[in-house]
Amino acid sequence: EKGGYEHFMLKEIHEQPAAVRDTVSPRIINGMPDLSQDGVDMQKLKDYRQIFIVACGTAMHAGMVGKYVIEKLARKPVIVDIASEFRYRDPIITKDDLMIVISQSGETADTMAVLRLAKEVGAATLAVVNVVGSSIAREADMVIYTHAGPEISVASTKAYMVQISVMYLLAFELAYANGTIDKERCMELTAQLGQMPDIIRETLELKDTCSFVASKLVNAESLLYIGRGLDYALSMEGSLKLKEISYIHSESYAAGELKHGTISLITEGMPVIAVATQKKLIEKTVSNIREVKARGAMVILICDNSIEVGEGVADYIIRLPQTDEQLMPMAAAAPLQLIAYYTSVLKGNDVDKPRNLAKSVTVE
Ligand code: F6R
Repeated sequence: EKGGYEHFMLKEIHEQPAAVRDTVSPRIINGMPDLSQDGVDMQKLKDYRQIFIVACGTAMHAGMVGKYVIEKLARKPVIVDIASEFRYRDPIITKDDLMIVISQSGETADTMAVLRLAKEVGAATLAVVNVVGSSIAREADMVIYTHAGPEISVASTKAYMVQISVMYLLAFELAYANGTIDKERCMELTAQLGQMPDIIRETLELKDTCSFVASKLVNAESLLYIGRGLDYALSMEGSLKLKEISYIHSESYAAGELKHGTISLITEGMPVIAVATQKKLIEKTVSNIREVKARGAMVILICDNSIEVGEGVADYIIRLPQTDEQLMPMAAAAPLQLIAYYTSVLKGNDVDKPRNLAKSVTVE
């Protein structure tokens, strides 16, 4: 049942190219993103005052990627929040707003509660869900199903990848409908998204490098993930994955925030994983890397293969295949998952069933 893989998690990491293909390709029509078959009317969507994306854990991290790309391309304001926070803070949401909830299982209690809250005030609701017929899918006005297939490993991998694929489809179509990108740019981005299964497959070939990096983390007591913009969103997911299955403490930090307190944690040999795929931000991130390096950090840099990195900036570099900058989270996700996976394996943990966790969180 594990298809020759040692764990479900590893199998599911390798299923990502197919999961993305199954999720994305039926929704590309004549080179353009098309969510109309999912019952999504973009002309209507573009007129909502405010977009909310609310979810838990990994699904919330997919929402963070959604926020960056929707704001960047479609120029619509997006608020991302954790379901258990959003529901209790008397949120300002009205019938003029759109609530997007993201859930693999479609059964997460807090996410469900947020969906109901949004419906009560008359907001439009759109659920991005993997499990067909699940509670969240049944109650939302619109559903975009991700086609990851069953995810057995408690640590989510392929579900995250397809959730972000849907965020891209939404962002591209919305941006075109909103007139903030032209047809040519929309087709270009969509074509790149269509290529992502191949790019992800290439990144899976980095597994030996990832396993080597894991060997450098396995004895760490604590580490940091840093990045800016989309790379920060991705760092959050990388850090969660590592904590969840390796039981090593880690934190993701917006690189520019380090010097406001956290940099005092850096001691000789502490691993810092820096994600730097966004060209406009690379110089800034590199200067943050130099700051941690000067204080003794062991730096693992994840960047695309076009970026020139000066001598001595990083101890180890993971080079990603190139794609449109906006899509780089899809190229960096699998290496981060693999680093967490191999670290967990090296520690001898129960990778697929980490302690204290359940696959579906139906309690509040
Ligand atoms: C982490 C993980 C969790 C889930 C979260 C939401 O690897 O799997 O953080 O993402 O519990 O679950 P769903 O997506 O089912 O609502």
